[in-house]
Amino acid sequence: MNQTYDRKLKTDLDLLRAAGTFKSLRHITTPMSAHVNMVEAGDAIVLSSNNYLGLAANPRVVAAGIEGLHKYGAGTASVRFICGTLDIHSRLEEKIAAFLGTEGAITYVSCWAANTGLIPTIGIEGTAVISDELNHASIIDGCRMATQAQRLRYKHSDMADLEAKLASLAPDMTKFIVSDGVFSMEGDLAKLPELVALAKRYNGVTIVDDSHGTGVMGTTGRGTIEHFGLTGQVDIITGTLGKALGGAAGGFVAGSSALIETLVQKSRPQLFSNALPATVACSALAAIEELEEHPELLASQRENVAFFRAGLTKLGFKPLDGPSAIIPIIVGETAFAIKMSDALLKQGVFVTGFGFPVVPEGSARIRVQMSSALSRADLEKALTAFGKVGRELGLIR
Ligand SMILES: Cc1ncc(COP(=O)(O)O)c(C=O)c1O
Repeated sequence: MNQTYDRKLKTDLDLLRAAGTFKSLRHITTPMSAHVNMVEAGDAIVLSSNNYLGLAANPRVVAAGIEGLHKYGAGTASVRFICGTLDIHSRLEEKIAAFLGTEGAITYVSCWAANTGLIPTIGIEGTAVISDELNHASIIDGCRMATQAQRLRYKHSDMADLEAKLASLAPDMTKFIVSDGVFSMEGDLAKLPELVALAKRYNGVTIVDDSHGTGVMGTTGRGTIEHFGLTGQVDIITGTLGKALGGAAGGFVAGSSALIETLVQKSRPQLFSNALPATVACSALAAIEELEEHPELLASQRENVAFFRAGLTKLGFKPLDGPSAIIPIIVGETAFAIKMSDALLKQGVFVTGFGFPVVPEGSARIRVQMSSALSRADLEKALTAFGKVGRELGLIR
């Protein structure tokens, strides 16, 4: 390593440590579930995972992955169009499309790859991409990569601002409107009914990344689009298999057959990067089946959200409002959020503090994520810890 550059990196890291904003990785030795064993803290209740339905360690999901490994081996050692497409990829993609009510779907190794593979492929010259300012980083980067398109950003969920941006563009121009379904740091939902109506009025194509909504929102867990009764009315849906749907990794784009075929032909991660590992595809398929067959997972997850929100409020915290499984408590400075997260871990509760640059400066937060895997006893213990730490740090009385 170039010594001068290495010294510079170390100096930069020391600055983060001095500011109290250095992120320390936690090391886990057991499967992701309601509790994990951590090298740093022993047994801990997990309030920090996207394992919303507790499927990451579900026996059927795990068994499907093992079976997939035996049946298909580790992978294809190839990209999709050379010799990387397995029958399990097609089965999973058909399942995702049927689950979301689209003509087709295509998988990627992550939703990051899906968003950055989709947006620059369709955001070509003569089109515009208009993005909510609080969209996930993968959407932001996807928009940055769409260098041929006109790129605009509207204020968070501000439909008047979105409409002004749409109206400023030529009427016949294709305008991609892209939004998270559930905003990952706030837990609020995109205003999808208004978004869809504006798209119809201004020749818009709607893209919704429902990574935090799939498996969580809607009567049957089909996501934020189902929640609003808009099934079939959003043009393009992206999402992850790395949260509610098994939690391993993987992402997808779902939409019309022509869109999916276009991505097979042109999307750069499809052309130049290996396919989703077979084991992961098998586990994700089993996770969707498990969700369809066990609506009680969704019901208990929602009961847990309501119970924990009410408990936090009773203690004196003011979590941001929202119907999703994400419950953020704004604490201000990044160093404070990290300090609070460390103090909670000492009490056996694993919940991460988020600060700049993940969220805007001054709005650092503790983000609770609720899972159906958690028992009432876990939640009560976690609330006791929140009460103790909140009082010690002067956040509540
Ligand atoms: C809204 C959203 N989109 C995309 C991603 C990226 O998903 P993946 O981990 O599959 O790349 C995330 C993950 O945090 C997310 O919250």
